[in-house]
Amino acid sequence: MANFFPRWTNLFPLKIAICAGSVVMGIVAAFTLYATPKNTLVGYQPAQPIPFSHKIHVEQLGLDCRYCHSFVDVSDHSNLPSANTCWNCHQHVQRQSPKLEPLHRAMDKTHPLYDGKPIQWVKVHKAPDYVKFSHSAHVNRGVSCVSCHGQVNEMEVVYHAKDLSMGFCLECHRNPHDQVRPLEEVFNLKYNAEEYLKNSVVLNAKGERITDKDSLGKHLSEQFRLQPKESCATCHH
Ligand code: HEC
Ligand code: HEC
Ligand code: HEC
Ligand code: HEC
Ligand code: HEC
Repeated sequence: MANFFPRWTNLFPLKIAICAGSVVMGIVAAFTLYATPKNTLVGYQPAQPIPFSHKIHVEQLGLDCRYCHSFVDVSDHSNLPSANTCWNCHQHVQRQSPKLEPLHRAMDKTHPLYDGKPIQWVKVHKAPDYVKFSHSAHVNRGVSCVSCHGQVNEMEVVYHAKDLSMGFCLECHRNPHDQVRPLEEVFNLKYNAEEYLKNSVVLNAKGERITDKDSLGKHLSEQFRLQPKESCATCHH
């Protein structure tokens, strides 16, 4: 009898078995991870070359996150500001502050130690290389910085507030409704849904006014057509 199948198909069952095996192992690993909270990074607060206070700049001066993290809503990565952004103000304000010495080295040509090099900020949050993450995918779907970074607006020095583990990501992907907010409130870390609904009229599909947080979340999820994925390939290369 003729062989209808090319030779390589003989390897097929083996390949399937290997694939199935690694998927099962992956799922077991995933469940183990999901079940064991990894809190090792929570609280991580490295010293920075300049003790930059978000509390002063966001809370007191009222600067928007995008003034400094200007790519956060258009790209996967959220950039840090260049020394130039600081210098715009600090060539005039608090110019003599000893805390700003590294800024002078980067920007102030009259400074004896001027080298023009960028300020070496120490990274606080870092996803492992095998994880895919996108800021703009979240920020443009009503997910605020506060969900993943905590109350940065009140931080004198930034620290790792949430564990950002796989379980943490999945928890919201399974049920994003109570974590989404109107797009214009994403950068307002003091947003409060009840207050918001008192001051703005939001109508549901039937034209009735929405008065509680739960209905607002469901309404926004529908409006954004939210369908956060849970497949492994969503977050892994
Ligand atoms: C005036 C500029 C400025 C503004 C405004 C600003 N930031 Fe920052 N941000 C910085 C600088 C500089 C750093 C790096 C130094 C540090 O970590 O403190 C930073 C660091 C961060 C980090 C940690 C980055 C890492 O290494 O993981 C987060 C998260 C962050 N900012 C969130 C925010 C949020 C949220 C807002 C708005 C509520 C905001 N920032 C507003 C300048 C700014
Ligand atoms: C929009 C203007 C503005 C920008 C941009 C800005 N700052 Fe400031 N910063 C201020 C003002 C105003 C104060 C003083 C607040 C006060 O005294 O209450 C201040 C205070 C500070 C202080 C405290 C100084 C001291 O001796 O107490 C540091 C440090 C500082 N800023 C660092 C930075 C860095 C680093 C950047 C860039 C990432 C930056 N600032 C960007 C306006 C700005
Ligand atoms: C859904 C969770 C989530 C949200 C929402 C979020 N971040 Fe992040 N952020 C992360 C993760 C995860 C990292 C580490 C990314 C990496 O290493 O690639 C990070 C890293 C950063 C960094 C360091 C630079 C970088 O991209 O690695 C800055 C700055 C930052 N975030 C600012 C913000 C600001 C500002 C907002 C709100 C406008 C925000 N983030 C919203 C999860 C989030
Ligand atoms: C607070 C809620 C929340 C958290 C926490 C969260 N996400 Fe998401 N994520 C969303 C929403 C909402 C979307 C947009 C889904 C859509 O557009 O349908 C999204 C989209 C994404 C996307 C774009 C792919 C897609 O579904 O279209 C990736 C990748 C992603 N998330 C990865 C992560 C990772 C990695 C983490 C943890 C570090 C994380 N997310 C944490 C709510 C969240
Ligand atoms: C919503 C995003 C998201 C989805 C979907 C997701 N993961 Fe993850 N996964 C992560 C993040 C983020 C980490 C890193 C956690 C950390 O840094 O603690 C991770 C870590 C892992 C690790 C740990 C690797 C190590 O070396 O410790 C394994 C294994 C893993 N994921 C497997 C899976 C499998 C299998 C699936 C599909 C069933 C899956 N993941 C779906 C976000 C996700």
